[in-house]
Amino acid sequence: MPYQHRDAYTFAMTDDGVQQVGSELSIARAAGLDVVEASDTELPFSTRSTIRLADQAQFNPMDVMEALIADFRAQGGVLIEGLRVRSVSTENRATVFTSAGHVRADRVVLATGIPVLDRGLYFAKVKASQSYAAALRVPASTPIPRGMYLSAESPGRSLRTYPTDSEELLVVGGNGHQVGREPSPKRRLNELLDWAAHHFPGTEVTHTWSGEDYRATNLMPFFGKMPRGRGKIFLATGYNKWGMTNSIAASLAISAEILGGHVPWADTIHKRTTSPAGAAAAVALNADVARTLSESWAKAELTKPETGSGTVPAEGEGTVVRKDRKPVAVSTVDGVTCRVSAVCTHLGGILSWNDAEKSWDCPLHGSRYSPTGEVLQGPTTKNLAVLD
Ligand code: FES
Repeated sequence: MPYQHRDAYTFAMTDDGVQQVGSELSIARAAGLDVVEASDTELPFSTRSTIRLADQAQFNPMDVMEALIADFRAQGGVLIEGLRVRSVSTENRATVFTSAGHVRADRVVLATGIPVLDRGLYFAKVKASQSYAAALRVPASTPIPRGMYLSAESPGRSLRTYPTDSEELLVVGGNGHQVGREPSPKRRLNELLDWAAHHFPGTEVTHTWSGEDYRATNLMPFFGKMPRGRGKIFLATGYNKWGMTNSIAASLAISAEILGGHVPWADTIHKRTTSPAGAAAAVALNADVARTLSESWAKAELTKPETGSGTVPAEGEGTVVRKDRKPVAVSTVDGVTCRVSAVCTHLGGILSWNDAEKSWDCPLHGSRYSPTGEVLQGPTTKNLAVLD
């Protein structure tokens, strides 16, 4: 699998960021990592504080995925794609019910970003965020930073490179927000692109994309046996943007639990999951969700009822209208206007339009749907009702 050796940097531009970099430095040293203060960077702007961890690995996660799949198949594993898991029962052997029938298993590991089962209420213990990334072709005259850079403060900024067969692209990322809470996600993406164009003049955008990620209220990932799963269902979630490492840690801990091994650091993480600070943060998160639910319904109720032949948004736009007292999500994508229920099938949040990704997003727990109502992202597993 191709990968590059690169130094990893954390940098700060603000007072708050300087403090965070200082904490990261002392924690990293306490953990025995050889992190040093860096007085020089290759960035085209000055930073107030920077630290460096030398000789890390930079790689494309899809290359890792392909290597894992090949290994899994070589060991006799069977991979089935394109189905939706709807529920899991734990009577006798576990049974996984999917959109195309059911499968029986001794154990089930839910590794779906956010668990698609409501046992344990994990959807209420993590906050869903969406952040953006872009690949840029940089003019030959402009030097590309060789390290992997991550800002300590908000709005987040990260830089790294992606070598193709013929060139090396610059990848910038950041400007995240809570899913479904941003009036114009496209504006957030454009801010990131403007920032990159300002610091790397003459760049050409080759690709843009976004990722959804889950942060646990106590900042530590959840993994292990799912409550009320009779020891047959395992879960992993809450990677907090560090999925490339936290997912590996979760898989090591889960496989050790299934096979009877013992991973000492897993106990430490489990203890953190019940900390008082984490419990307080969970209460605050759920108060915020309850407020958003009532505010978004009140706003939908106040929307003027639709009359006449129906709303037709401009290309790439979407809006929530009211028809016969019900909130309706109307969007136009590629010249096709679709009308679906604007009520999330998980727990009833009112959806909002994502003009960057052309999707309907739920501000409560981060479920996302296509313009035609198909589920793109959990925790929901049910499509939206399609309306005339
Ligand atoms: S994701 Fe829970 S209500 Fe929409």
